[in-house]
Amino acid sequence: MCGIIGYTGDKQAAPILLEGLRREAYRGYDSSGMVVFGTSPKLVRAVGKLEELEQKVATLSMDGIFGIGHSRWATHGEVTEVNAHPHADCKSNVFVVHNGIVENYRELRTKLKEKGHAFSSDTDTEILAHLIEHFFEGKLEEAVRKAMRLVRGTYGLLVAAAQDPGKLVAARLSSPLVIAVNGTGGFVASDPAAIITHTKKVVFLEDGEVATVTADGFTVTDLENNVKDKEITELEWSVEEAQKGGRPHFMLKEIEEQPESLQNALRGRLLVEEGKAKLGGLEPFAERLRSTDRLIITAMGTASLAAMVGEYMIEEYAGIPVEVENAAEFRYRKPVIGKNTAFLAISQSGETADTLAALAEAKEKGALTLGLINVIGSTLARQVQAGIYNHAGPEIGVASTKAFTSQVAVLALLALFFGRQRSLSLVQGRRIAEALSALPGLVQKTLESASAVEKVAEKYKDASDFFFIGRKYSYPVALEGALKLKEITYIHAEGYGAGEMKHGPIALIDEKFPTVAVVPSDSVYEKTLSNIQEIKARRGPIIAVASEGNNEIEEIADDVLYIPKTLEMLTPILSVIPLQLLAYYIGVKKGRDVDKPRNLAKSVTVE
Ligand code: AGP
Repeated sequence: MCGIIGYTGDKQAAPILLEGLRREAYRGYDSSGMVVFGTSPKLVRAVGKLEELEQKVATLSMDGIFGIGHSRWATHGEVTEVNAHPHADCKSNVFVVHNGIVENYRELRTKLKEKGHAFSSDTDTEILAHLIEHFFEGKLEEAVRKAMRLVRGTYGLLVAAAQDPGKLVAARLSSPLVIAVNGTGGFVASDPAAIITHTKKVVFLEDGEVATVTADGFTVTDLENNVKDKEITELEWSVEEAQKGGRPHFMLKEIEEQPESLQNALRGRLLVEEGKAKLGGLEPFAERLRSTDRLIITAMGTASLAAMVGEYMIEEYAGIPVEVENAAEFRYRKPVIGKNTAFLAISQSGETADTLAALAEAKEKGALTLGLINVIGSTLARQVQAGIYNHAGPEIGVASTKAFTSQVAVLALLALFFGRQRSLSLVQGRRIAEALSALPGLVQKTLESASAVEKVAEKYKDASDFFFIGRKYSYPVALEGALKLKEITYIHAEGYGAGEMKHGPIALIDEKFPTVAVVPSDSVYEKTLSNIQEIKARRGPIIAVASEGNNEIEEIADDVLYIPKTLEMLTPILSVIPLQLLAYYIGVKKGRDVDKPRNLAKSVTVE
């Protein structure tokens, strides 16, 4: 979603704002802008890629040592320069950039118009500039607090005013904001990656907080001006990590990083001798989890497909009934939650609006709330009672790859944790722990067959439709493979349980309609093989993801991508990798923007 950046200090602001917007570009945007305060405010905005803004900035003398910038992902109002942020008040004194939605903007706009305010855009955000203007009497933070008390909706808001120079005022409700002050100035951003080159010591704002940031320091209050003590978080990320590491795209870097990201997810959490998983974040709730008799897992997109793998794992190895709920649906249903129901929210960004809203619903109904999160200090991380970080490191590519496999690995740890609290034996526990320990090496081995995947990508890159099929643990993998192909290559792809084909989808099969069959040598191999044969009988091309050593599959499939053998429940971590690479290579061959696919955002912070 939108990127926010602000700087105040002793350096020229424009280059710092541009660098910050570049680092936030992966979040998805369609226009951008900035205002720098020199002798007078200089506002520049542009539609399209950041390069458009950079060219405009280069032609103007954007001198000034404080300013704010924004990259917009349109929610209210067309993608136009007039609708791009920053937005100003009537006097070009107060300038705002905003991430979120002002739900009562119509009534606020009516009231402001009655007081003589004139509007130049059809965005909800512009209302905020005029509302703050209405309360401005010289101290910007006071005007912001008064204004935001009238606003309903969500916001990550950054405000600056010509008549209160050198000050950045940030307010947060549901959309993330981070602040920092180092020796050269003060910073506000919607994503730590935007300021990581200036400092790794940051402060995450909570909902309802207002920060006043200057070059010398910051204060944080609530909307009623009660001062809040804030702790400083030392970011784990080095600058290099946020770079591409020499690969052409973040997506390929992150696919190839999976042996390391899995090691990070498992580090210190496997007690192989005891056949147990050590999950420090859950320890304080171990007894409540022992009596958990139902687990609801909620997420969106790829995270919800990891959740589906977790459902099968936890039911098979811990005997707890599990249901996976699409967060956008869960939040509007009347869910039944019992006193021993646990609720697990999975989110890479920890900022997905639907997942956060589903969490709020579960909290309201008294569930024990758990989180499986990648971004440290994210909203979800601070709203659950017990959390597990998957430590996958920054995932910059919009398509979730290493986050997915580390989420599945942590869910295997959770199945082991729950199972050993119940009837899972020491022997079985050790088997799972040993298989998990071996997984990073098997992932590395799987990555070594990337060239075979690239050949398959070359062969099928012009197909206009794909099916992805699988059974049991391979069913969520089939769904994830279809999602990856769709979002990276813009080719139509559908995932199905292999058993579903006869109930309609097979009507579409012909020689131009390839099917990717995820068919490891597992407990449902024979069943899936017969589904593959039904497709073959109708001349449908078959690309099989199969276990090493399975030679018979080569007589049926047109192409075979092999993966090493492991425990059935861990196979998804291996079988997804050829599918990630297939989407990547076809996307590159079709000239797609594989790191920032059209219409998509890395973190969907609005519903
Ligand atoms: C996956 O490739 C997509 N980028 C998207 O489906 C994503 O998984 C979904 O938006 C959930 O994001 P989250 O894990 O940050 O909550």
